[in-house]
Amino acid sequence: MRGAEAVVSFSRLLGKKIVIKNRIAKTYRVSELDKNLRKIRTRVEARLLHKAKIAGVLCPTVLCVDDFSLRLSFIDGKRPNITSQIAKKTGELLAKLHAADIIHGDFTPANLIFNKNLYVIDFGLGFFSNDIEDKAIDVLTMLKSIEEKLHLLFLKGYSSYKDYAKILKRIEIVKNRVRYF
Ligand SMILES: Nc1ncnc2c1ncn2[C@@H]1O[C@H](COP(=O)(O)OP(=O)(O)O)[C@@H](O)[C@H]1O
Ligand SMILES: [Mg+2]
Repeated sequence: MRGAEAVVSFSRLLGKKIVIKNRIAKTYRVSELDKNLRKIRTRVEARLLHKAKIAGVLCPTVLCVDDFSLRLSFIDGKRPNITSQIAKKTGELLAKLHAADIIHGDFTPANLIFNKNLYVIDFGLGFFSNDIEDKAIDVLTMLKSIEEKLHLLFLKGYSSYKDYAKILKRIEIVKNRVRYF
């Protein structure tokens, strides 16, 4: 499987299925710079996964960190169908990530896996930040990728985050900015 940033493949470790996520070279970047960026981002992705787990968000376990690749536990499940219950749960998960200053960077249903519980995957575009706008954009990204009738439930789940009101205001500002761009 190949996204823009990484190639994902599957392997086994001690009899268990694992995922190898390899950050691929960007040929349009100067080679040395590209290597450094990929090394840094690989490490950041590992730290985000680790901190997300500590924050109480289910996500793959980091098994090994190499310069450009991560080995992760395999989450056996499927991309969820977003029901009312899952929309609310998804909001709660984002609230927990944001409380830990974790910005996911691509918070959409494609980066969730459901199997009895809901897991968050793919922190490859993530970073640490306490900026309201960064958090507002994570919320907006999910709102844009789910049906409008689920918006209130997702936001209800997210409302456990302390800066909820500020973030809602910022979402309106961001939306207006995009509208008049
Ligand atoms: N830990 C994991 N367990 C199970 N499947 C995974 C895991 N990590 C990635 N995948 C699968 O590989 C796909 C791509 O991985 P992802 O981390 O989202 O990278 P990208 O979107 O950058 O290609 C996911 O949509 C998912 O289907
Ligand atoms: Mg992905």
